[in-house]
Amino acid sequence: MRYTFVTLFPNIIESYFSDTILKRAIEKDLISLDFVSPRDFSTNKHKKTDDTAFGGGAGMLMTPQPLYDALSSVKEASPDAHFVFLTPVAKPFVQNDAKRLAKKEHIVFVSGRYEGIDERIIELFADEVFSIGDYILTGGELASMVLCDAISRNVEGVLGNSESLAEESFEGWLLEAPSFTKPQNFHNLTPPKEFLKGNHSKIRSLKFALSKSKTKYFAPERYKRAKSLFFTD
Ligand code: ADE
Repeated sequence: MRYTFVTLFPNIIESYFSDTILKRAIEKDLISLDFVSPRDFSTNKHKKTDDTAFGGGAGMLMTPQPLYDALSSVKEASPDAHFVFLTPVAKPFVQNDAKRLAKKEHIVFVSGRYEGIDERIIELFADEVFSIGDYILTGGELASMVLCDAISRNVEGVLGNSESLAEESFEGWLLEAPSFTKPQNFHNLTPPKEFLKGNHSKIRSLKFALSKSKTKYFAPERYKRAKSLFFTD
C-alpha cells in the first residue's frame, strides 16, 4: 500500500510513523509514504497558500491554485490513485471503510488547514470525503493519520497476529470485551477468575457477556441493533 499525504505540515505526520507497528510495516515494505506540499506548487511570489473567503466569514481558506497543481501532479504520476479528503463536513469514517480501503494500491490523503479548502478542489479531485467525528480540528493532518492507521492495520501482514483482527469490536456489532495482562493483582484489582484459567468455552461466554454489557452502556443504539440480529437476552 502506498500513501501520499498532501499537506503543508509533513513533519506532523512523519513522526507518527517513526516508531511502532507502522515503522515495522514500512521496513517490511508493506506500506510506503510520501509527502507533497501545496506550498511547493504555489505560483504566488511569497508562496502563499491561503486567502479570505468570498462572502466573508472568519478565517482563511486554502486557495485552489497550489492544491490544484499539487494534486494534478500526483494524479498524472498515479492515475489510479484513490483521493481521500479530510474535512468535518463529511460522512463519518468507520471500520468497514478501513477494511475496504486497505485493498487499494495507492491512497492520497488531502488535509486542509485554516478554515478549510476551496470547495471546487474537493469537487474536482475527491473520490471520497471523510470526517473522523463531530468536532473541528485545526487541520486535517490528524484525521488523515487516523485513517491511515486504521487502514494499515487491515493491510495483509501489518499486524503480527492476524487473529487480533477477527475478534475486534465492530467486526461484529458488539464492542470488544475488556482485556487484562500480568500482574494478576494490581492495586487490589484482579481479572475475572475465568480469564486466569484455561477453560476456553467459559472464557468465550464470559467475554460475550462482557461485550454485551460494554456495548449496552457505551453504545446503546449499537446494542439494540446487535440484539435484534444476534441474541434475545
Ligand atoms: N478537519 C478538521 N476537523 C476534522 C474532522 N473532524 N474530521 C476530518 N477532518 C477534519
